[in-house]
Amino acid sequence: MAKLWGGRFSKNTDKLTDDFNASISFDQRLYEQDIKGSIAHAHMLAKQGILTEEEGELIVKTLGEILQDVKDGKVEFTEDNEDIHMNIESILTDRIGAPGKKLHTGRSRNDQVATDLKLWTREACVELIEDISELERVLLDLAQDNLHTVMPGYTHLQRAQPITYAHYLMAYVEMITRDITRFNQVIAMAGASPLGSGALAGTTYPIDRYMTAEELGFDSVSLNTIDGVSDRDYAVDFLEACAVSMMHLSRFSEEVILHNSSEFGFISLDDAFTTGSSIMPQKKNPDIAELVRGKTGRCYGNLMALLTTMKGIPLAYNKDMQEDKEPVFDSFDTLSVCLKTFAGMMKTVRVNKDRMREAAGGGFSNATDAADWLVARGVPFRDAHAIVGRLVMKAEQENKKLEDLTLEEMHEVSPVFDDSVYDALDIKNGIDRRRTPGGPAPAIVSRAVAIRRGQLDTAKKAGSKG
Ligand code: ARG
Repeated sequence: MAKLWGGRFSKNTDKLTDDFNASISFDQRLYEQDIKGSIAHAHMLAKQGILTEEEGELIVKTLGEILQDVKDGKVEFTEDNEDIHMNIESILTDRIGAPGKKLHTGRSRNDQVATDLKLWTREACVELIEDISELERVLLDLAQDNLHTVMPGYTHLQRAQPITYAHYLMAYVEMITRDITRFNQVIAMAGASPLGSGALAGTTYPIDRYMTAEELGFDSVSLNTIDGVSDRDYAVDFLEACAVSMMHLSRFSEEVILHNSSEFGFISLDDAFTTGSSIMPQKKNPDIAELVRGKTGRCYGNLMALLTTMKGIPLAYNKDMQEDKEPVFDSFDTLSVCLKTFAGMMKTVRVNKDRMREAAGGGFSNATDAADWLVARGVPFRDAHAIVGRLVMKAEQENKKLEDLTLEEMHEVSPVFDDSVYDALDIKNGIDRRRTPGGPAPAIVSRAVAIRRGQLDTAKKAGSKG
């Protein structure tokens, strides 16, 4: 079959070349952006008098029909036409003949593909922000229900100080709130329209780049046509935002797996979000969390792949850049399904409050509170630290918790102790008193929940208006 670019070639391409070169198997995902980009381009060509009004209208109308036909599954793309751009153009020309051949006036596939992928990435960010917001809502509800659910806080995976499950969950809410910011930044980084950059040096036709940029919803036009066709920074940024978001989900998954184990027993995953073993009948495995953790690897790989592809490419367009799409699509698909499944899993989780409370009481997690109590009585913190250290040693020898030591036993370590220390050692009191901004006291966490919920609602309202 004759190639759209075949004019100067005297021989057909080898079949291997065709297979190797073609991108239609994956870039057909860009069909909608490609057609919208072409419609904007045709509108502009007609307005500028580069096409006649009738030609412009016919092209726009037919592109609209093609878009619908693709959506309805009525169009078959072919490898003979290499990529989505040439497939759409040749379908257009098949349908309307000569005017179809004029669509590519003042345009190159180089600015076309740059435009398509930027548009696609911006839309992908909007979708991911919705998925993250949904997960955030699930976590906020869970936190709201667990403002008073005491659990051990850890450092070095050793019980450190008591916190609440709400306080713990809100740490992840903060992480994913930053993920939303990161995706919004990617939208901004992909804000300049490449369309009109041509192959690399613009065009001699009197095109209006601002008109197409506006129709396509871009914020501006690229100020340099060479950069316009070769900028893939936003795709790298997108992959980075996906990688960081997966990193957060992966850490969370790791803890879901730990917390769901019989050793911890802090949470129980719902049957609908666990799987069985083919040999061990008793098993209920946290496969969802494990898969999320596992899939994080491929998202890191996608980021590294594109960074590496881009690192040695001379200006402007080179075919290497066709390799930008698959990592971008794959990271989107992976993060999107992980966010949705993870939200479902957390929505149905059962919190075993008694187990958490019990664990929070062990490991001398109120030792800092004992030291703080001493400090309030004028003991310098370093001395208080040493005194409580000895108290812990004593309690450990007698197989007791700090609050189970009698006052007499405490006096063997320091004469300062009196009855009121028991109040300080009460775990619940300890948490209520930790009112540091951002701290675990229920009053403080509940304020954080309200702030983040308010932001989600505001963003939702702004989104539905725009
Ligand atoms: N399929 C190509 C890509 O994805 C489109 C651009 C081709 N441009 C070119 N000059 N060969 O990058």
